[in-house]
Amino acid sequence: MKDKFTSTILQSEQLVKYLLETSAYPREHEQLKELRNATVDKYQFWSLMNVPADEGQFLSMLLKLMNAKKTIEVGVFTGYSLLSTALALPDDGKIIAIDPDREAYETGLPFIQKANMTHKIQYIQSDATTVMNKFLAEGEEGTFDFAFVDADKENYISYHEQLLKLVKVGGIIAYDNTLWAGTVALSEDEEMVDYLKGCRGYIMKLNTFLAADSRIELAQLSIGDGLTLCRRLK
Ligand SMILES: C[S@@+](CC[C@H](N)C(=O)[O-])C[C@H]1O[C@@H](n2cnc3c(N)ncnc32)[C@H](O)[C@@H]1O
Repeated sequence: MKDKFTSTILQSEQLVKYLLETSAYPREHEQLKELRNATVDKYQFWSLMNVPADEGQFLSMLLKLMNAKKTIEVGVFTGYSLLSTALALPDDGKIIAIDPDREAYETGLPFIQKANMTHKIQYIQSDATTVMNKFLAEGEEGTFDFAFVDADKENYISYHEQLLKLVKVGGIIAYDNTLWAGTVALSEDEEMVDYLKGCRGYIMKLNTFLAADSRIELAQLSIGDGLTLCRRLK
């Protein structure tokens, strides 16, 4: 079982292993497992960009509880959260999946095909801002039940403004990595690896911004690397 590269806020390796091996991996869909392993083979360390299995299962349950039918995925990579979403939607469900990196998407695509989920997915090779602006111009306002944002952290606040229009009132926008490996709680001068240091400020700004945003109901979860759920109120 390839569980070496995981993205989780839990600070004990034993606890991560326990959680994944006891609850998450035994319930993981076969093609999700294969996609995860293929991602580790190809991307090694950066395979940690896939959401971990327990977070995928949480997203799946949330989508079913919401009866979500139409969703938007900002940041696909090899598609772990995308396939988790596709498996959770009804047969006539639809996901707009946006990512400029087609090679990563194509790494996961054989598993999405094997799971018979391609009919639910419209992959768009692009940056998210352009696509969302186009959707807004085309009258797609208020048509999405759910959005999952797991992409360029510096643009999350601007995605929030677009998604508050695209997602219907009562719908949910979910932001991934909002605890950023715990670095959001560290002081500026503490030791951090470069890739964490680089985006930490954007995540901290986002968390403060969302906490003050009266247009949403907010719940920040310490699952995966931190997941913030925003329910559109108006
Ligand atoms: C953390 S990964 C997504 C992981 C994915 N949700 C999963 O669970 O497998 C982040 C992705 O965001 C994409 N990305 C970066 N800038 C973007 C942008 N402006 N618009 C859309 N996607 C972007 C990257 O190409 C990368 O594949």
